[in-house]
Amino acid sequence: MPKKAVVTVHPAYRIGEISPRLYGSFLEPIGTMVNGTMYNPKHPTADDKGFRRDFIEALKQTPIPAVRLPGGNFVSGWDWKDSIGPMEQRKAHLDLAWRQYIPNDVGHDEYLQWAERVGFEPLYTINLGTGDINDAIYITEYTNHEGGTYWSDLRRKYGHEKPYGVKLWYLGNEMDGPWQIGSWEKDPRGYGIRANEVSKAMKWVDGGIETAVCVSSSPFLAHYPQWDLEVLQECYEAVDYVSMHHYHSAPEGDFAALLGGSVFFEDYINTEIALCDFVQTKCRSPRRMLLSFDEYGCMIRPNRPLRPGYGPHNLYMDHYNFPTRKYIRHDPDNMLMPGMPPMGRHGDMPMALANTSVLLAFLRHADRVKVGCMTGGLGTLAAASREHIWRSAGYYPFTQLMTYGRGVSMRTSVDCDTFDIPGYAIDDNSQYYRHEGLPFIDTAAALDEEKGELAVFAINRNWEASNDVSIDVSGFEGWSFVEHIQLYSDDPNAANTYENPDAIIPTANKEAKFECGKVSANLKSLSWNVFRFKK
Ligand code: AHR
Repeated sequence: MPKKAVVTVHPAYRIGEISPRLYGSFLEPIGTMVNGTMYNPKHPTADDKGFRRDFIEALKQTPIPAVRLPGGNFVSGWDWKDSIGPMEQRKAHLDLAWRQYIPNDVGHDEYLQWAERVGFEPLYTINLGTGDINDAIYITEYTNHEGGTYWSDLRRKYGHEKPYGVKLWYLGNEMDGPWQIGSWEKDPRGYGIRANEVSKAMKWVDGGIETAVCVSSSPFLAHYPQWDLEVLQECYEAVDYVSMHHYHSAPEGDFAALLGGSVFFEDYINTEIALCDFVQTKCRSPRRMLLSFDEYGCMIRPNRPLRPGYGPHNLYMDHYNFPTRKYIRHDPDNMLMPGMPPMGRHGDMPMALANTSVLLAFLRHADRVKVGCMTGGLGTLAAASREHIWRSAGYYPFTQLMTYGRGVSMRTSVDCDTFDIPGYAIDDNSQYYRHEGLPFIDTAAALDEEKGELAVFAINRNWEASNDVSIDVSGFEGWSFVEHIQLYSDDPNAANTYENPDAIIPTANKEAKFECGKVSANLKSLSWNVFRFKK
């Protein structure tokens, strides 16, 4: 029986403003994410652009703030100029990153117009693998300049009179990765200088934009964090964010490794903040760098045998490039793509909690982490098959955070039982060090001063026991308790499906008691909880 947990939130202890962009998603044309789910001209609900209206409508029902699109490894070999204008002019290419054909039927304008139709902010990644400074200048002009130049007039000619006004631009995708087309892995200074020049030029085209520079795309890479330091020293003054990625892996059945994974994100965030601040001091700069976590996710992966003697380069030549795999031709009308997962893999509670726990870690660093893009986030918000759309378990915490996780992030102090993650290896590149003393009750809190609302978020990561908890908000004098929303399932393998969409849905815990500024409640094993208070 775990000891009673005590979570305290006090009005004096603030972390920082929460950016709504923290609750973004990431979209790239692999699997059925673009071809099949976002785009299928043969679908019965297809609109004039071939976008699935059922998917658009489902996303419109959520408060989705932002999506990084396009992005991912394919961008590093993609020429956006081949993807604009009449379909018959568009050029099909091989995508070397994912060994697929890119027919460019979904191009630059389609991505941005899809964003307009759904109603979220697009966060755009430019190609700095094979792309150059001119490409960066032209894309900014085409996208954001009013008119009167070749590129901006071309946009108008192709049917979009007004500039799109894209605000945040990513200066390449994972430019440190040896798997990246045109990788800068061996030349961090070179990339830093290129990012500096590109960012300057793009901002000279449009002074209102922000840019994000790549740092190491995983804290487990051998060149991290030195690579990041060398990049930042060359471009600190010209960019606004560092672009961070991480995918956490845990072996099947290992709840400690899966649910404790957010601690590795937190280590990565803390180190990156230290690096940025070190460079800020070196530059004698008044500018404080912000963090964009624009790809993240948690997954269960079988252990792969380690391969002693393989350096990182052999590894990526041999493994990631799938040299023997045939190039895939997408059929957007066929969602059963061999070898690629469909969207919506966050259907069960443990996966939903693992991803949500990462979001809570972002909230605890809301003063510096200003963008979060969940890979598969769109599938979490609207899981889709060829015919149907439904809500995964992860939909509920994700949208509740979008709704109640606003305003100022508040510090939570937690006293509860803890667990350890023993060190483990998934493969050569994913070797996790030991972590001790992780709180079973994972928390964050948000104070919306405009609305006079406080929300305390809590995950019970204990996979074996429920936990009584006291949420102490007595410092918020005169505030009342609104509700305790809980989400759990007695069966950790249960998942929402189209046939059974309500296997996991939130309920109100009527047993929660509020006395003298403290809520007493029980947190079910493997549960998500929101405690809401009002002024
Ligand atoms: O989402 C899969 C891939 O993960 C992306 O293309 C890349 O940016 C990252 O390595």
